[in-house]
Amino acid sequence: MTSLPHRFTLLQRLLHWLMAVCIIAMFFIGVGMVSTVTPKYLPLISIHKTLGVTLLVLVLIRLALRLYYGAPPLPVDLPATIKLGAYLSHVALYGLMIVMPLLGVSMLWAAAYPVVLAGGIQIPPLLPQSDGVHTLLWNAHFYLAFAFFALVLLHVAAALFHALIRRDGVFETISPVSLAARATPAERDTHARPAVNVQTEKYSRG
Ligand code: HEM
Ligand code: HEM
Repeated sequence: MTSLPHRFTLLQRLLHWLMAVCIIAMFFIGVGMVSTVTPKYLPLISIHKTLGVTLLVLVLIRLALRLYYGAPPLPVDLPATIKLGAYLSHVALYGLMIVMPLLGVSMLWAAAYPVVLAGGIQIPPLLPQSDGVHTLLWNAHFYLAFAFFALVLLHVAAALFHALIRRDGVFETISPVSLAARATPAERDTHARPAVNVQTEKYSRG
């Protein structure tokens, strides 16, 4: 019988929370730097570029771990449409975590700006200068940043729904600490995640 994990591995959980904090910081640093006319722009853009490229490296590691270790199954009683929504939103989140830094770097290349990170690390340009391409990439980075933020808000709402309303164990799969371990025995009985029958479960997140 196949044994599916009940939680994401420790490394997957650490990466999820480390990246969540950094990505949320990136939204505010991005908006902050473009709305300032003070010299603070320079350190902010340096942090934005360095953290953005670091996040790109981290998401590639995370994706490799996800493909290798898989993910815990969702509760069997969760409606199929919600499972599909969860799957699609996670794919979109991974996509945006990869695309946003790539757009950031490429739009600087297309504007012929050197991409210099903190510590003087320079990424050599892979695109020729082009005003049209720069405008296109700039617009994509701008609009996708807001779409990304909206999706993160939806994701957080879904996570809170699982943690506080459904109490079905989904939040525990990624939480740094197990809330179930802190619950009283009565709470554990009432809100226990439905047992997953691996042989009959129709849905697998691969
Ligand atoms: C920028 C912020 C965030 C991003 C980009 C993000 C991204 C993701 C992704 C891609 C997954 C799927 C994991 C996988 O299948 O490998 C996931 C799982 C999860 N995240 Fe987040 N997350 C963020 C913030 C948060 C926050 C703030 C919370 C809680 C309040 C949260 C709660 C969860 C939960 C409960 C799961 C497990 C869902 C499941 O098993 O289906 N996430 N997150
Ligand atoms: C997860 C990754 C990233 C996120 C979430 C993100 C988000 C943002 C946001 C919200 C803005 C402000 C948009 C506005 O209000 O005009 C912005 C601007 C900007 N981002 Fe990013 N970004 C990311 C990665 C990167 C990377 C890796 C680079 C370059 C190496 C980059 C370069 C820029 C630049 C140059 C601007 C300012 C454009 C201007 O001054 O008009 N970004 N980003």
